[in-house]
Amino acid sequence: MQIKQLNSGQAVGALVLLLREEDCKNFSTFSELTEGLRDFVIELISRKDFEGKKGSFLRLPVFNSSFKNLYLIGLGKKEKCDLNLIRDSLAWAFRSAGRQHNDSAAVILNHLKEFSGLSVTLGEAGGLCGYVFDSYKTKDEDYKPFALKEIFSDLYEPEEISTGEKLAAAQIFSRELINEPGCAINPAVLAQKAQELAKEYNLECEVWDENKLKAEGMGGILAVGSGSKNPPRFVHLTYKPKNNNPVKKIVFVGKGITFDSGGLNIKPDNFMLTMKGDKTGACNVLGIMKGVSELGLNVEVHGLLAVAENMPSGSAYRPDDIIKARNGKTIEINNTDAEGRLVLADALCIASELKPDAIIDMATLTGACMVALGKNRAGLFSNNDELAEKVLASSNSRGELLWRMPLEDEFISKSLKSPCADLINCGERYGGAIFAALFLKEFVGTKENKIPWAHFDIAGPDMKDKEYGVYSKGASAFGVRTCLDYVINL
Ligand code: BES
Ligand code: MN
Ligand code: ZN
Repeated sequence: MQIKQLNSGQAVGALVLLLREEDCKNFSTFSELTEGLRDFVIELISRKDFEGKKGSFLRLPVFNSSFKNLYLIGLGKKEKCDLNLIRDSLAWAFRSAGRQHNDSAAVILNHLKEFSGLSVTLGEAGGLCGYVFDSYKTKDEDYKPFALKEIFSDLYEPEEISTGEKLAAAQIFSRELINEPGCAINPAVLAQKAQELAKEYNLECEVWDENKLKAEGMGGILAVGSGSKNPPRFVHLTYKPKNNNPVKKIVFVGKGITFDSGGLNIKPDNFMLTMKGDKTGACNVLGIMKGVSELGLNVEVHGLLAVAENMPSGSAYRPDDIIKARNGKTIEINNTDAEGRLVLADALCIASELKPDAIIDMATLTGACMVALGKNRAGLFSNNDELAEKVLASSNSRGELLWRMPLEDEFISKSLKSPCADLINCGERYGGAIFAALFLKEFVGTKENKIPWAHFDIAGPDMKDKEYGVYSKGASAFGVRTCLDYVINL
């Protein structure tokens, strides 16, 4: 998408106007519109055909004008309007305009200038609006290509716009990988994608195959990957700022189950659907590495991907098996479908060995978290209030809802114990998301070295059932925006 300066009289397919209820009562908002358009909009408002109510919109064909379609979008009440609503509204309008054969759009933003970061939001919405996962679709006569190529804005801040475009590109990179099915992306392929990314951005990249995993004592990843014909991988990417003087060292860790069938504890009927999305955490980490590189941030960032395919077979790991994780802790398996915590255990050990200032892991970890918080909100677990607050601030300002969950729970902590090993991998159904987080905590830091750590349980918001705002159906890359904001703010 090309975003350019809007000059008066510019001929475009669509004109997009975002209005709050207050804007509809104060006609000075429209002082920059051409006279004909101004009168037209004022007439619509006085007839109460449009009042700026949140979620309301009008698409009107226009004749004898420099634009062919007018999109009016309501932003609701001024005090409730924020950049997240503006981003979604812009993306919706651009997507809709692009589907209606408009190859260009103009957008009026000057009346919203009070929102700092507005141009970043414009760049982000412009970058996200056209994305759909349709690379496998035959492009026949029924196929409606997305036509929008250019956006002209009255408020034109190229640097901010470019930042927004980079943020969007990071999210789309993750989404595109997540949306690919298990037959296209197995652990080796995902590791190869990481290597390609590393080559493009000059990142250090180390990939451990099954032999190296054995040599390095990565018993969790090996066990989970043992049932699949496609052997597991562990990936370590490193970004170092050019000045060699980073302000902080942060490690991101992602669960990368390229398909989660449940293993021998196989998932029933449609619980298996969408489990190509179980690699979301790892793909998000790749998107974050891309974003950090493109933005050239002054932080040392490590990306660790724990990648395996969870399949049942004659070689699969079994319930009752006892395995040993990277840090020597032994785990009795009582459910092969609680596999994410096993691959993350090894990766969190490596993360801790790097002695960073903070570790953030992302995982589609438990259905229980989705039951607790719904499909629009992820669970946040942290051993450190300062880190949790920073992450929550980023999540709120970037419109990815996180809710902090308890990590101190004596009752559930006691239930982690196994009679024959150090831990079991699966507790009772109730409090399942907390159990999983407490399990992960066993692999973060050491008694001597406590490392601030945050865990995002993104089961639920990782996949969208239908398109909305900046989201198309399928992968959302939930977490990428929040984490990039967190790193930017360091
Ligand atoms: N990948 C799933 C969790 C999941 C469920 C993600 C739904 C997205 C949507 C995870 O590996 C899993 O199977 N969890 C089990 C844990 C249980 C066996 C303790 C679950 O949630 O049922
Ligand atoms: Mn599972
Ligand atoms: Zn899983």
